[in-house]
Amino acid sequence: MGRISEVREILLARIAESDAPRGVLRANELRELYAEITALPAGERGAFGREINTLKQELESVITTREAELESVDLLPIDVTAPMDSNAAIPELLTSDHGSIHPLMREIEYISDIFNRMGYVTEGSREIDDQFHMFESLNFPKGHPARDDYDTFMTEETDADGERLIAPAHTSTMQNRVLRKYRENLTRGEAIAAIVPDRVFRNEDLDARHEHTFYQVEGVYVAKGVNVGNLIATLQEFLQEYYGKKLDVRVNPFYFPFTEPSFEFALSCPFCEGKDATCKVCSGEGWIELLGCGLIHPNVLRAADIDPEEYTGFAFGCGIDRLVMMKYGIEDVRHFESGKLDFLEQF
Ligand code: PHE
Repeated sequence: MGRISEVREILLARIAESDAPRGVLRANELRELYAEITALPAGERGAFGREINTLKQELESVITTREAELESVDLLPIDVTAPMDSNAAIPELLTSDHGSIHPLMREIEYISDIFNRMGYVTEGSREIDDQFHMFESLNFPKGHPARDDYDTFMTEETDADGERLIAPAHTSTMQNRVLRKYRENLTRGEAIAAIVPDRVFRNEDLDARHEHTFYQVEGVYVAKGVNVGNLIATLQEFLQEYYGKKLDVRVNPFYFPFTEPSFEFALSCPFCEGKDATCKVCSGEGWIELLGCGLIHPNVLRAADIDPEEYTGFAFGCGIDRLVMMKYGIEDVRHFESGKLDFLEQF
């Protein structure tokens, strides 16, 4: 029996016994199936992915039936042949073969779920922000040359200080707000632990690896005595859970104004694991640059009225599109925003 049909039987049995059957959609067995996609030859991935999706749709419809059963336990038996009462509430969420959740949205939910289980709260970003949040609060004073690295879209509209508003080029634009919102956690002896998965914009030259609109997930963690080891362990734990397998990471020094020290984090290629000199995903290098991170700069903590003598923390910003591309072997980032049905239907 194939692995998919084995998982199907296990999960159908679990749904039949469960009082909260929707949780089965997050079963490890399903995740492992998705993780297996990366191990397949490129030509087989599409078909395998479609089979998993068919299984998922079947599970969803069985779950809906089971949920209806559970809800109706205490009610009078329903006469399914009775004429429909047009005043009755519509109980069932209908599904169709046409239309599905966008792959990025589904992955964002999964990423969020992993971090929520690690104790992080999820916050959203925004699509227009001011220069204080995008730059100043992040230790880029006016005229700082590193501002040029964020090739941003600006509006003609200005804020109260006469500064142009910006379509944020990174989710770090939310750091100051997140630190302020959860600052009281620290006085209660708890950590600030939040992620911000959301959309960002850059004035890029477009190619297979660059889009003007893409997604990042920002992570912020502040408490007493946080060090680089905590940062690395957290990212490693997340990435292993996300890809469903053990992966090596490589940490190189880097520069961001808002972290000190700063690092670039590379992942051993989940496709060839460094064993294939002709691998197209990592260009045979065995490593893929995935995210920027570091310990939060004291000035960033001060800008949120947090005492850097007492508390330290780490932050990271990871490109979600790239994460997902590597998971499913997607070769061109532009597919995500293209609205191409032949691409979307594979998920
Ligand atoms: N915001 C940075 C970028 O997009 C990534 C980053 C986030 C780096 C948090 C360090 C800490 O390039």
